[in-house]
Amino acid sequence: MSSYIRRKTPGDTDWLVHDRFGMFIHFGLYAMPARHEWIREREDIPNEVYDEKYFKRFNPDLFDARDIARRAKAAGMKYAVLTTRHHEGFSLFDTQYSDYKITNTPFGRDLVREYVDAFRAEGLKIGFYYSLLDWHHPHYTIDQCHPLRNRPDAKELNEGRDMKIYAEFMRNQVRELLTNYGKIDELWFDFSFKSDWYNGKYSFLDGGKGKGPDEWESEKMIELVRSLQPHIVINDRLGIEQDIITPEQRQLKEWPQHENGEYRTWEACQTFSGSWGYYRDEMTWKSPKMLIEMLIKTVACGGNLLMNVGPCARGYLDSRACNALDAYAGWMKYNSRSIYGCTMAEPEFTAPVGTWLTQSEDGERLYIHLFSYPYGALVMDGLADKIEYAQFLHDASEIQFQPLAVERVAAGSYGGSQVRGDKHGAGQIKFTLPPVQPDQLVPVIEVFLKK
Ligand code: GLC
Repeated sequence: MSSYIRRKTPGDTDWLVHDRFGMFIHFGLYAMPARHEWIREREDIPNEVYDEKYFKRFNPDLFDARDIARRAKAAGMKYAVLTTRHHEGFSLFDTQYSDYKITNTPFGRDLVREYVDAFRAEGLKIGFYYSLLDWHHPHYTIDQCHPLRNRPDAKELNEGRDMKIYAEFMRNQVRELLTNYGKIDELWFDFSFKSDWYNGKYSFLDGGKGKGPDEWESEKMIELVRSLQPHIVINDRLGIEQDIITPEQRQLKEWPQHENGEYRTWEACQTFSGSWGYYRDEMTWKSPKMLIEMLIKTVACGGNLLMNVGPCARGYLDSRACNALDAYAGWMKYNSRSIYGCTMAEPEFTAPVGTWLTQSEDGERLYIHLFSYPYGALVMDGLADKIEYAQFLHDASEIQFQPLAVERVAAGSYGGSQVRGDKHGAGQIKFTLPPVQPDQLVPVIEVFLKK
């Protein structure tokens, strides 16, 4: 059994840490301008202009939730989180509490319903993203990251806006989401911020506070959510830590801990390119190898990865997104055993240079991921008395190994730079590898440990 103790939280995170890999889906009106989901804020676009151009015309006629669900499943993703409503304030579901919703567009269908049905049918767990920011709601106060912040009359526009009414509106919508769509596994709120969070600009518009648990009435929200779906996983962005923390667009190097040493359950979220919403002209798409490495590194630090897609305004995933998902599919088909049910390797194991380790929760198997392919042999410390058998994970072909005896080793003679003179013979095992890298972006050695 893994020796790492994760702090217990109110929600059920056991399935989450087993499954490790999920799909984030960012979809909304912003897919139409196709230049970032923050476009309203970036370009100071008021409601009337945005709605006249986009809301009136929104019609993702090629949206096919089953197709996206199948692609997610093929990529090895076990759960998904869809933006039911992003900062633009547009609801992708048939809410009673707002007219600014998908069923009032030419599309006319409840997209959240289609998502839930299709992903469930493919056996994936269901998550909802719900924005705490709302740039459309009449009672959401204008602050430093609101599209109307630069208006000379911004302060006056805030008069009469009442965040209490807005907080109640959010509870009403969340009640709908957690009542009308069956069991929901994860609820992903987004996000709390300090007054000077945005571009370092201090905001005088909202009383200089920023927005957080007081404005969202986070405690009431959490109480409501737990009363409706007690098991649900809630993220940390209501400003009160719940079940998971959510580092965004960055790769942690260590598994985060509480002060008493207990580990936090964490889920990184990442994009294929530089935007969450569909961004036509954005070109910084990550390479297939980098994508696979991100997943491995995350699990190697005890975390989950939520990888994002942004469907285009006709509702489908463009070829760049499909190719990125295919990269995962190609690798996960043969190597997912080093991901599902795996976590950070026990501290007794040190990853050889150029490799990352994961270990199965039951402690029985160790996975050595070869990010850079060594020449002929790989030497690893501390394994000599512990190893029973080794094979490549992708084809179950045996990898022969032998212990290294101190006297047989001259500095640098095995595994090149991976062997340091002072460590020779310290329980080292030498794996003999084929000279040519197998046809895997990241080959994995599966080590069967002695019980
Ligand atoms: C940020 C952004 C948002 C995105 C989210 C995903 O908070 O505001 O656009 O949805 O990150 O983590």
